[in-house]
Amino acid sequence: MADRYLHLTGTAPGRFLTRRLGLPQPAPLRRWTLETPHLDGPLLHLTAGTSTVAGVAETLARAGLPLTDRTDRTDWPAAIVLDATGVVTATGLGDVHAALHPVVRSLAPGGRIVVLGTVPSPDDHHQAAAQQALEGFVRSLGKEIGRGSTVQLVRIPGGASAEAAESTLRFLLSPRSAYVSGQVIELTSAAPGPVADPAAPLTGRTALVTGAARGIGAAVASVLARDGAQVIALDVPGAREELERTADRLGAAALPLDITAPDAADRIAAAAPDGLGVLVHNAGITRDRRLANMPADRWAPVIEVNLDSVLRTTDELLKAGAITRGGRIVATASIAGIAGNTGQTNYAASKAGIIGLVRSLGPRAAADHGVTVNAVAPGFIETKMTAAVPLFIREAGRRMNSLSQGGLPVDVAEAVAWFAQPGSTAVNGQVLRVCGQSLLGA
Ligand SMILES: NC(=O)c1ccc[n+]([C@@H]2O[C@H](COP(=O)([O-])OP(=O)(O)OC[C@H]3O[C@@H](n4cnc5c(N)ncnc54)[C@H](O)[C@@H]3O)[C@@H](O)[C@H]2O)c1
Repeated sequence: MADRYLHLTGTAPGRFLTRRLGLPQPAPLRRWTLETPHLDGPLLHLTAGTSTVAGVAETLARAGLPLTDRTDRTDWPAAIVLDATGVVTATGLGDVHAALHPVVRSLAPGGRIVVLGTVPSPDDHHQAAAQQALEGFVRSLGKEIGRGSTVQLVRIPGGASAEAAESTLRFLLSPRSAYVSGQVIELTSAAPGPVADPAAPLTGRTALVTGAARGIGAAVASVLARDGAQVIALDVPGAREELERTADRLGAAALPLDITAPDAADRIAAAAPDGLGVLVHNAGITRDRRLANMPADRWAPVIEVNLDSVLRTTDELLKAGAITRGGRIVATASIAGIAGNTGQTNYAASKAGIIGLVRSLGPRAAADHGVTVNAVAPGFIETKMTAAVPLFIREAGRRMNSLSQGGLPVDVAEAVAWFAQPGSTAVNGQVLRVCGQSLLGA
């Protein structure tokens, strides 16, 4: 559904009026296109204190942006990466301020700030305090930076090389992460898998996307196909026509199947005889009502579609070896699963369950099967699901985030594609909110 307010603030009279009234000023976000795959401007690399990670400069040199050391108005950086891995004391935090304070104003509109940190130590409370402080810093800067810019914290574990962070930095320092802000991503030290063609990193992989007929699932299928995957688009038999239209458009195979069917995993495995490289659990439903008014027949299907079928098919496909080594499982949570939502005890429970699944299974799936397990947690995304939300709640959902607008299905799809990349082996057990830094559950 069109965001008329965003359109209004994109005109000069609309901007004047809304400014005078003190209303939010959403900046139009620039998403990835074939013609403009990179941010418009150079990358400024700063270090607070002494870095503890090897290879940061080399990794940044491959991130797709020219490097600069100038911050004057003729060469505004489109991105700033602050290496704060060496900040281990409260006084060391002064180096973070000293590095960013003079340059933060020179960041180009729609720019990116990424702070590199390390994992807070359970054995050293001074280091833990300093590193955890970076999270509060990043989340606050995300709220104040404005102009469509975003701020994130990437934690690289001690002893790991910055190479483990390459796919993550490429994603965060590009237009693909336009609707991701205020996030903390904690990497493992796993080495990235080989990426033969960075423009089509999923070449040679089969990707199955559930709920792919429309909305976010159709966008995920489209972005994975763009990245080279052979896509199988799955949706309920009742959506067959829409599913086949979507699949035809993408050169994908259509698999009409209810994901809750008892033989769903077998049928998925049969549809991908050479194994699945990427499995995206996107299908989801809502049956909202306050708990006091919610009969069991509104509770059960939400848990069944959104959580139980995800657990069941994941277990069965992993056990059958139907997901290849180096494979990726990406599930779909929601900020409702983090913040809770009136009328959504069933939905929020199912989505919080996804977060539990990902955090628990990720490390074991990596050890036992060489497969990573992550989740996206979308905020307010413009789809049929949110078009059905009553007007005032919809308007609040759109504006109550640092970017003052709803996201698009493609924003979630880009995050899924980043998880799915062979280069993202170090990204495991993570839940990435794609929510423009929503105030809900912040
Ligand atoms: N739109 C948002 O703002 C938002 C926010 C947070 C999370 N999400 C989640 O993102 C996912 C996609 O949401 P959307 O907005 O695109 O929803 P949507 O309703 O537009 O699409 C969901 C798709 O899933 C399919 N589906 C439902 N039950 C199925 C089943 N049993 N088997 C196979 N397919 C089934 C539907 O037919 C539909 O095509 C869902 O998991 C949803 O909970 C969406």
